Amino acid sequence: MQVIKDPTVQAIKNDVEIKGAFKQYGSNIVLNGIDLEVKQGELLTLLGPSGCGKSTTLNLIAGFLEADEGDVYIKGKKVTKVPPYKRDLGMVFQSYSLFPHMTVYENLDFGLKLRKIEKSEKDRRIARTLELVRMSGLEDRYPRELSGGQRQRVAICRALVVEPKLLLLDEPLSNLDAKLRHELGAEIKRLQKEIGVTTIFVTHDQQEALSLSDRVVVMNQGKIEQVSTPTTIYNHPRSEFVYQFIGKSNSFEGTIMAVENREIAVKVNNDIMRVNIDNIMGDDHSCHSGDAVKLYIRPEKIQIFSKATASQKPSNFYKANISQLNYLGTSWDIDVMMYGESYQILTYAIDSSWQQGKEVYIGWNPSDMMLVKK
Ligand SMILES: Nc1ncnc2c1ncn2[C@@H]1O[C@H](COP(=O)(O)OP(=O)(O)O)[C@@H](O)[C@H]1O
Ligand SMILES: [Mg+2]
Repeated sequence: MQVIKDPTVQAIKNDVEIKGAFKQYGSNIVLNGIDLEVKQGELLTLLGPSGCGKSTTLNLIAGFLEADEGDVYIKGKKVTKVPPYKRDLGMVFQSYSLFPHMTVYENLDFGLKLRKIEKSEKDRRIARTLELVRMSGLEDRYPRELSGGQRQRVAICRALVVEPKLLLLDEPLSNLDAKLRHELGAEIKRLQKEIGVTTIFVTHDQQEALSLSDRVVVMNQGKIEQVSTPTTIYNHPRSEFVYQFIGKSNSFEGTIMAVENREIAVKVNNDIMRVNIDNIMGDDHSCHSGDAVKLYIRPEKIQIFSKATASQKPSNFYKANISQLNYLGTSWDIDVMMYGESYQILTYAIDSSWQQGKEVYIGWNPSDMMLVKK
């Protein structure tokens, strides 16, 4: 069937675009050719290790910084030279940055004052925004009278109360403990969907990125490695860097023996491991026998079997020895020895016979294994 493009149907509008951004401090190249499109109403995260250029990218969008090369567009309008206060943004930073001598109400009122909004409208907006983050009734408290989580809720309120075109959050949960981080993260996600404000969220925490985002941008050394949905980022990483950054993994080194039936057979020690031909990471997708490769498998994709005669055994199936069992409450971490190396397995149920030193069989599907050329 031929698909005819209807010129009256617009593609999804991008709320933010960065085109060809480069930024350098001395000899340190901080942004090395960033092209990014943020869709209307989405929650996009910038994810990557410390120093990879996430805050720099966010500050470019906010207007706190200008790139050496490249342009920024907001709602289709070039804003490269437009100062931050004219960009209509709400921003939240890692530290709460509330005014300590002002009450919650006064902190929220501060941004509105600059916008010359009538008192009744201001009160309505402040009440409504506080209600959104379940902080109603705390208008008269000072920041010191609030918990860390409450203060960060006020910071989020202050960003939202001006009804910005864009919400920018730079590691807003990093100063909170794990439980609160999870709670407030879920709250930001709910709030963002409720208001529908286009949001860019910076984090170095892969779980936070996967759980909150519509799409994730994985950055490394001033470059974008991949932009995709959380499931694609986790299950179909485009590069070895993305694979390793996003989750735990076990690796094997080997040599390609053959390519048959859309599977690559790799010799690892004296065994053969099979990998789906679609699971090649990196730029080099060529496969010839004799090529050196590295194989990866995630701990939760490995199954353990007590017997070699297990029914429904996957086509990658090997002998191993249990070296350690760690109980984690909802799951188990099991370390096994194979080829003199230790490998990790994550499982939700164990067999009572699995004990330290026990010989077992481990297996996984070729579709779960990833390959990269060396
Ligand atoms: N004002 C500055 N002067 C010099 N170097 C800077 C400046 N701001 C950031 N950098 C450097 O740029 C790189 C990227 O920083 P940043 O964007 O803050 O990283 P991230 O937010 O991903 O941790 C780092 O190497 C950092 O040291
Ligand atoms: Mg940063």
